[in-house]
Amino acid sequence: MATSWENLTSQVKTCKKCRLWKGAKHTVFGEGPRDARVMLVGQNPGEEEDKTGRPFVGRAGKFLNKILEENKIEREKLFITNIVKHKTPGNRKLKNDEIAACLPYFLEQIKMIKPKIIVLMGETARKTPRKRGIVYLETYHPAAAMRSGKMRKKFRDDFRSLKKLMIKI
Ligand code: URA
Repeated sequence: MATSWENLTSQVKTCKKCRLWKGAKHTVFGEGPRDARVMLVGQNPGEEEDKTGRPFVGRAGKFLNKILEENKIEREKLFITNIVKHKTPGNRKLKNDEIAACLPYFLEQIKMIKPKIIVLMGETARKTPRKRGIVYLETYHPAAAMRSGKMRKKFRDDFRSLKKLMIKI
């Protein structure tokens, strides 16, 4: 368990609990205010995120930014992260042991940030355990939503609901 934010950041940065660190340039810890009211959670970084060390900066990230802007949600006010903090080789599917190894870091981030709302984007994020006192919104992963009309519509609607919820709580 981490004792402070700095400690958690450095634990994640130097993590070798699974094999993924070997093929990654950067660890993508996540970004945003330490006291964000809303957390957005994806699966794991892709190529662009690995290059820059920042979450959701590739194609899916650009689509996500567009949906946020449409709803006048400021990205800078959200804490954006992933369940797994490293990319996979060739963007392959995550293995269960990789998810299990990294999940405690996400749970620690929740404990320290204490968000009011968590948006779980995609199946990997949707499978994570829930904490009492937090409102969870489940939606598609932006990479899936940008490819299909039906999913795109639902994704848009979900972010509209997020905006309404942010005004309320
Ligand atoms: N897909 C994710 O799940 N997370 C990112 O940061 C980028 C793409």
